[in-house]
Amino acid sequence: VFDHKEFDQHENVAFINDEVTGLRAIIAVHNTALGPSLGGCRMYPYADSAAALTDVLRLAKGMTYKAALANLPQGGGKSVIIADPRADKTPELMRKMGSFVDSLQGQYIVAEDSGIAVQDIKYMAENTAYAGGLSAHFNYLGESADGNPSPATAYGVYVGMAAAVAFRLGKSLADVTVAIQGLGQVGYRLAEHLHAAGAKLIVADTYQPNVDRAITELGAKAVAIADIHKVAAEVFSPCAMGASINSDTIHEIQAVVIAGAANNQLASDDFGEVLLARDILYAPDYVINAAGIIDLYHQSIKSTPEQLKAHIESIGDTLTDIFKRSQAENQATNMIANLLAEAKFKK
Ligand code: NAI
Repeated sequence: VFDHKEFDQHENVAFINDEVTGLRAIIAVHNTALGPSLGGCRMYPYADSAAALTDVLRLAKGMTYKAALANLPQGGGKSVIIADPRADKTPELMRKMGSFVDSLQGQYIVAEDSGIAVQDIKYMAENTAYAGGLSAHFNYLGESADGNPSPATAYGVYVGMAAAVAFRLGKSLADVTVAIQGLGQVGYRLAEHLHAAGAKLIVADTYQPNVDRAITELGAKAVAIADIHKVAAEVFSPCAMGASINSDTIHEIQAVVIAGAANNQLASDDFGEVLLARDILYAPDYVINAAGIIDLYHQSIKSTPEQLKAHIESIGDTLTDIFKRSQAENQATNMIANLLAEAKFKK
């Protein structure tokens, strides 16, 4: 029996060790009940293959939940290449990865993740049709775009935050102060949407130029990295790294809504219960940040910008359903999201 602490009903886990190109990689397919599994390929110099396996199994499972609640006809999968993206990348390695993806005959569709660029996917695509995120011809506003999912993700978080603020406070975003942790690809674009809507911004980023820009362009107030989660704001928006809601920070949060782009915001699932008990409305991360894969899907089926935009905006309705059920059943929003996702893909 294959046993691993993260192994949880995965349908297929494939390994490759190619002596010619040096490719060492794993593809994990978690669930394909709703469609072929889609998920990025991460290239990272894992300490050992056990660490890589743990990561890929966990990430693949997360993609199943994300795709299900984004109402996509897709399942969850992910792949990892065990190597250093700065030192070990060759076209041959990527082409071999393409052949590896192809060997699953469409059960898994590869896209970009950390360490993997559009050019790498292009090399993979020489050997497989099962590659996405190659290039986009438009974004959700109908403008020509390069395939970067961040503008879509930022718009989805903005729409989701508006739904959360309406539910918890009965207000629009024009009347709230939002504390944004991380002004990167997603966080800065989110800040721009919020500023345009009239919200007040408090920001923090480890990279000072991003902060300076937000002060100048968006009238934001800057605070120290260590303080952003505990400032007086109605909304806290984690848009940097994961686990920002943990045993050190959770009791210091003054916001009544948490809505941000970061993956794995809760250091553990149990913190959802603590937020519920404190009457802080938490927008589950994989629901609110799903517009990136929604964007990828619409590029692949060549739909219109209007269809893409409407699909992104449905994130607000999905969240409102979760909030209502959470309130009715007095259960944490992250647990309700998991139950709703499971009801879709476990049918
Ligand atoms: P990014 O790397 O462009 O931005 C992250 C920003 O956070 C950077 O400006 C960085 O300087 C800052 N930062 C790092 N540590 C910090 C700290 N301790 N406190 C404050 N700021 C800090 O990344 P991106 O693409 O904006 O993604 C942000 C988060 O959203 C990540 O967790 C990512 O996994 C998640 N996400 C991104 C999607 C996308 O489409 N880009 C899609 C779904 C999730």
